[in-house]
Amino acid sequence: MYQTIKTENQNGIFIITINRPEKLNALNKTVFSELDQVMDTVENDAGIKGVIITGEGAKAFVAGADISEFLEINEKDAATLAYTGQQVFFKIENCSKVVIAAVNGFALGGGCELAMACHFRLAADNAKFGQPEVNLGLIPGYGGTQRLTMLVGKGKAMEMILSGSIISADDALEWGLVNYVTSPAELLGKTKEILQNILSKSPIAVQKAIAAINASDHNQEGFKTEVALFAEAFNSTDKKEGVAAFLEKRKPVFN
Ligand code: COA
Repeated sequence: MYQTIKTENQNGIFIITINRPEKLNALNKTVFSELDQVMDTVENDAGIKGVIITGEGAKAFVAGADISEFLEINEKDAATLAYTGQQVFFKIENCSKVVIAAVNGFALGGGCELAMACHFRLAADNAKFGQPEVNLGLIPGYGGTQRLTMLVGKGKAMEMILSGSIISADDALEWGLVNYVTSPAELLGKTKEILQNILSKSPIAVQKAIAAINASDHNQEGFKTEVALFAEAFNSTDKKEGVAAFLEKRKPVFN
C-alpha cells in the first residue's frame, strides 16, 4: 500500500519504518505524503494505541531531506516544500496518541527534525544527530531551528546549526535530545517497553497531557520565519554550490 514506509501493528503498538535504505531513508516527497496519510490512519484507527517511528537498515534513521529534490526548485517551491513538511511534522507532534522515535543510526537534517517532532526519542549507541544544512548553503526547514532550540537550549542549537556538526548518541543524551541510549539490538525492545508502560495509563489523560505540554512551546511565528528564510536561501549561489557539491560527492567551496 505504501512505497516508502512500512507499517506494522503489534497489539496496538504501531511501528512506522521509513523504508529507503539505499538512500539512507532520505525524505523525498513520497515519504512526506505517505507519512501524512499514515498519521491520519493513526488518529482514526482505534486499534492503534501508540506509535514508534524508526528507519530501515542498520545505518540510518533518516539522513535528511532528499537533497536530489533540491536541485531544480525555486524560492516559491522551497517555501511550499518547507511549509508542507512542517505540517506533516505538526501532525506527528500533535498526535493524540504517543509517538516515540527509535533512532537507529544517522538522524541528520530532516531526520533530526522528524525525531524532534516525535514526543520523545530513544537512540541506539551508533546514532548520530545533526543539522548539516549549512554545508548545503541552507538552514533547517522542517522546524529544526525551533525544536532543537527548545530541546537543547539556544547556545547548543546555535552551535549545532551554525557549524553543521554531528553529535554522538551519548552527547544527545547529555544534552536532552534523547531520553535513553541502548545497544542497536535493544533499541526497539526498550522503546516498546517504555511505550507499553504509557499505554497502561489513562488514554484520555495521555492525550490531554500531550496537548498541554505542546501548548507550552509553540511559537508559530518562529516556524513561519524558518519557512521564509529557508526559501530565501534557495536563491543563493551558496545553495547552488552546496547542493552541487553534495551530489558530486565533493566538499563545497563558499565565497
Ligand atoms: N538526500 C539524498 N540522498 C542521500 C541523502 C540525502 N539527504 N543522504 C544520503 N543519500 C544517498 C547518497 O547520495 C548515496 O546514494 P548513492 O549510493 O546513489 O550515491 C546513499 O544515500 C548512501 O549515502 P553515502 O553518502 O554514500 O553514505 P556515507 O556512509 O558515505 O555517508 C552520510 C553517510 C549520512 C554522512 C552522508 O550520506 C550525508 O552526508 N548525507 C547527507 C546529510 C545531510 O546533509 N542531510 C541534510 C539534508 S537537508
